[in-house]
Amino acid sequence: MYIDTHCHLDFKNYDEDREIVIQRAIKSDIQAIITIGTNIETSKMAIKLAENYASVFAAVGIHPTDCLQTTDEHLETIEELSKHEKVVAIGEVGLDYYHMKATKEKQQSIFRKQIDLAVRQNLPLIIHNRDSHDDIYDIITTSSSSKVGGVMHSFSGDMDFLEKILLTNLHVSFTGNITFKKSNNTPLVERSPIQQLLLETDSPFLTPTPLRGKRNEPAFLVHTAKKIAEIKNLDVNEVGYVTTENAKKLFRLNV
Ligand code: NI
Repeated sequence: MYIDTHCHLDFKNYDEDREIVIQRAIKSDIQAIITIGTNIETSKMAIKLAENYASVFAAVGIHPTDCLQTTDEHLETIEELSKHEKVVAIGEVGLDYYHMKATKEKQQSIFRKQIDLAVRQNLPLIIHNRDSHDDIYDIITTSSSSKVGGVMHSFSGDMDFLEKILLTNLHVSFTGNITFKKSNNTPLVERSPIQQLLLETDSPFLTPTPLRGKRNEPAFLVHTAKKIAEIKNLDVNEVGYVTTENAKKLFRLNV
């Protein structure tokens, strides 16, 4: 059993065969899927999908590349959406200094406000970080985010940054990119305790080897799990079991 803790099932990449993709995941030992909002519209779509499938759950939030026009009213809408019974996290939220679609100050302000929102609603955080390690760390450690915990999704950064994150109560997750030949994530996966790891595909992106070139989907999660098992010298079923328990506990999943 595996849990895909991060994918974007609402994306138009799945418009032709969304139902089949979800059924294929269920048949491929995926016990639960968390589909992630990136703005108000996609957050609403995530909830709609979660309403239709027992094993699909939703996260709602404003992504840092989507926060340029975000107002307090928009955040109130996110907070209202977060009260839905199938919403299990606030995300994805964070900072993205690679795409830099809004100023650092704006991104930081929206991130901090969504941390406060998560704490008020007692929901864990799904955190996006791209080229913003120092500011992410600063905000995590100077806000009340530790009250709710969460995950550094699609972990990127060096060993020093990983060591700092592992000392917080956040989980870390790696995507299919750890299966790539050129991946330099192997020592990071090796260093991350299995009790602090989650699995994710980030589909439709980051398709794992040997399926590269295809659209990614939750059913492909096993390839990432196998790679983690190989790096950590564990049985793939153990990787599945422990990370499933981690996800169930963090997101309080009823499956
Ligand atoms: Ni994502």
